[in-house]
Amino acid sequence: MTGAPAGWCGRHHGQLTVGGIPVQRLAARVGGTPFFAYDRELVSRRVGAVRAALPAEIELSYAVKANPMPALLHHMSGLVDGLDVASALEMRHALDTPTPACKVSFAGPGKTADELSAAVAAGVTVELESEREVARVRSTSEALGLPARVALRVNPDFTVRGSGMRLGGGPQQFGIDSERIPAVLASLAGAGLDFQGFHVFAGSQNLRADSICEAQRSTIELILGFADAAPGPVRYVNIGGGFGIPYSGKDQPLDLGPIGENLAKLLDVLIRPNLPAATIVLELGRYLVGEAGVYITRVVDRKESRGKTFVVVDGGLHHQLAASGNFGQVIRRNYPIAVANRVDDPTVETVSVVGCLCTPLDLLGADVALPAVAVGDLIVMFQAGAYGLTASPTAFLSHPAPAEVLV
Ligand SMILES: Cc1ncc(COP(=O)(O)O)c(C=O)c1O
Repeated sequence: MTGAPAGWCGRHHGQLTVGGIPVQRLAARVGGTPFFAYDRELVSRRVGAVRAALPAEIELSYAVKANPMPALLHHMSGLVDGLDVASALEMRHALDTPTPACKVSFAGPGKTADELSAAVAAGVTVELESEREVARVRSTSEALGLPARVALRVNPDFTVRGSGMRLGGGPQQFGIDSERIPAVLASLAGAGLDFQGFHVFAGSQNLRADSICEAQRSTIELILGFADAAPGPVRYVNIGGGFGIPYSGKDQPLDLGPIGENLAKLLDVLIRPNLPAATIVLELGRYLVGEAGVYITRVVDRKESRGKTFVVVDGGLHHQLAASGNFGQVIRRNYPIAVANRVDDPTVETVSVVGCLCTPLDLLGADVALPAVAVGDLIVMFQAGAYGLTASPTAFLSHPAPAEVLV
């Protein structure tokens, strides 16, 4: 199928299907374009593939920040063991699902007093990002008369090679520097907190299995060095995740096999003998949902300008910032893109697909080979299930918000 990545093979009379529904029918069902559609079957299959590759005792947590759509979250709640949240609203949505509060973890710097209070009251695991936050959660616990369930987020002394985004190693706003952890653990004795364990999240969007394996080993070794100083048995070790997905033809999909084998070895050699009470949690966002979502827009204009053809759609970076290359990417590369109602047509022209915003940054596809595109056609952008709408400046230029649908 022209332009579609592997996994998106469903089609009906030349149209892409999402969840078995042809896109034109889906567009009518959601009230027009632009819209995001997430395929629940692809999400379930992806979680199944991760489960199949990993040792059974590794728990899987979904990072809600990747895609917080409530219906998707509810679906995910039935597939994974826990939910990782980063704000009070994400936490509320997570607590609305069947996932028990004790399996919800709340990470992120700068938690407000209201967020800490809500998290302690709910009984979620608060992942403490600084020494001041440790003191603040103690006060919150005292005020509520409840021992806060806590874990220390550690800023490790190593970095993860190959991460598209680094969140650990060197100076960071995330986590407590590893060299400070022994002193913080000492301060927890008698602090009235329900200490659970540790969290290390050092990087994301990594396509290199060898780097992920190395980071997981370094993480476990780091945590083992703290275990004796902990105020109680370590019951929770969140080893982060960082599994990446391919966004362009140059990217190779992540190979889960070596990661599963590495984790099995770590469990046998280091974890079970030394941390017998610990639940090991892998925390994934984009890997579980990123490839299960599409962003669909409609062509409203096409124009020639000095030898170049522009296809103008009714969406743009205000809904799908990442596809424009402005979500922290160093090098801009096209996300996979296709004409959703002409998926069987041969590619015959090279065009640039642009959004409807008044900025040259609103470039969704630069010089893409596509079938002949006409006004009214539907353009689909793949890999839109994670950090799509949730990571986009929706208020910019005051266009209406797009619909989101789980099918
Ligand atoms: C603490 C934490 N957990 C999980 C994630 C999710 O990362 P990804 O969606 O790349 O799996 C992030 C991403 O920044 C994070 O900061």
